Amino acid sequence: MRKVFLASALLLAGMATAQASNLTQARYIAANCANCHGTNGNSAGGIESLAGYDRDKFISVMKAFKSGEKPATIMHQLSQGYSDEQIAALADFFAGQSKKR
Ligand code: HEC
Repeated sequence: MRKVFLASALLLAGMATAQASNLTQARYIAANCANCHGTNGNSAGGIESLAGYDRDKFISVMKAFKSGEKPATIMHQLSQGYSDEQIAALADFFAGQSKKR
């Protein structure tokens, strides 16, 4: 019984760490988006802000860019560089940012 408890506690701790590191990783990747979409996804204008972007919509838009299904000037190329896991981490990151403009 005690062993089971310990094992699940360790598992939960591992999951929490994995999620934190995904967000840290996402923060670094998001810096690649800042030139156009603004710091933490708050665009200075012109290009869409990503802060507060709906998580599921973000994933489907990025996949549509990646597959070429959604026409784009640049995002179809940029989206090629990210795995599904990285896109999901970015979706969590941007959804968690407060939209300032
Ligand atoms: C060089 C400028 C540039 C960079 C860097 C950039 N984007 Fe974009 N992004 C655009 C442009 C321009 C559009 C409009 C679609 C197009 O023409 O490609 C866009 C559109 C989007 C959209 C759709 C917004 C909407 O609702 O219409 C998403 C989501 C997005 N970008 C995510 C990202 C992510 C994530 C990154 C970083 C990994 C990133 N972009 C980096 C220029 C950029």
